[in-house]
Amino acid sequence: TSSDLRSILNFTVNLARTAGTLILEGSQAIQSTPDVNEKKNSVDLVTQYDVAVEVHVNNEISKAYPGYGFIGEESYSAGSRPELTDQPTFCVDPIDGTTNFVHGFPFACISLGLIYQKRPVLGVIYNPFLDHLYTAIEGQGAYLTRGSSQPLKLPLASPKPLSSLSKALIAIEWGSDRGEATITGKSNSFLRLAGDPSDGIAGGRMAHSLRSLGSAALNFSMVAQGGLDMYWEIGCWPWDVCAGIVIAQESGAVVTGSHAAFASASSPDSSADPFKVTPEILTGRKYLVIRAIADTP
Ligand code: IPD
Repeated sequence: TSSDLRSILNFTVNLARTAGTLILEGSQAIQSTPDVNEKKNSVDLVTQYDVAVEVHVNNEISKAYPGYGFIGEESYSAGSRPELTDQPTFCVDPIDGTTNFVHGFPFACISLGLIYQKRPVLGVIYNPFLDHLYTAIEGQGAYLTRGSSQPLKLPLASPKPLSSLSKALIAIEWGSDRGEATITGKSNSFLRLAGDPSDGIAGGRMAHSLRSLGSAALNFSMVAQGGLDMYWEIGCWPWDVCAGIVIAQESGAVVTGSHAAFASASSPDSSADPFKVTPEILTGRKYLVIRAIADTP
């Protein structure tokens, strides 16, 4: 019920803030004693702090909600891959933006999503470096708390919605798969988004600019906040996007698991309806989060 979700939200916000303190302590420690491990390759990073935060969060959830499922980035990597059922399930990235965390670039967060009946229904994203807390419950709006709390409701002001992609500030990410096929496909999409068609870039939309915050969850949040007009990425995991989906959708943004206009960049998926919101977060690997832009292809 909605009062159950409100009480879970209170619990999750407290958990995010406690985890935020652990992340800040870890950040100070890692700047003095770098201790970084590589997962699939030299740019896919994990630290002892990712693991410690996830263990803490998992323990607290098991105590408060013993019947709930748990999907976490680090336990998944370690081989714990529970099947997604209709039961409430937390979906957690203990530190989203691990590369930023390692480098001291203050855009890293904890992302805590709740899935019920296979739909993401609640999201909490907390960046302890900036003390920005994003929260949402399905059907009850999205909020940003920094000192005081404000509702996130797009479009925020005139002249929004934007008349054209050429007026947009767009987030893209490089990801950790740097193989030739992936990086070439992605770079070609970046070219089409940012390049000047009058100077030979075929299909170039010449967006105002491209940004990479280095955290999928914070890119979702920044679209919800209105600071970015669009975020596009191939290769997200459920814990990167679960909380962000609820926050972005509740702010009025559109979230889709695939988009025809970018299909040629990677695995073709052009049969999909480009604006269909797909709640099946465990199956979509391409994400587009967008606020209203009139000429979006
Ligand atoms: C990654 C970050 C990155 C995005 C990747 C994510 P991690 O999460 O969000 O910006 O490009 O898709 O997997 O590894 O920092 O938790």
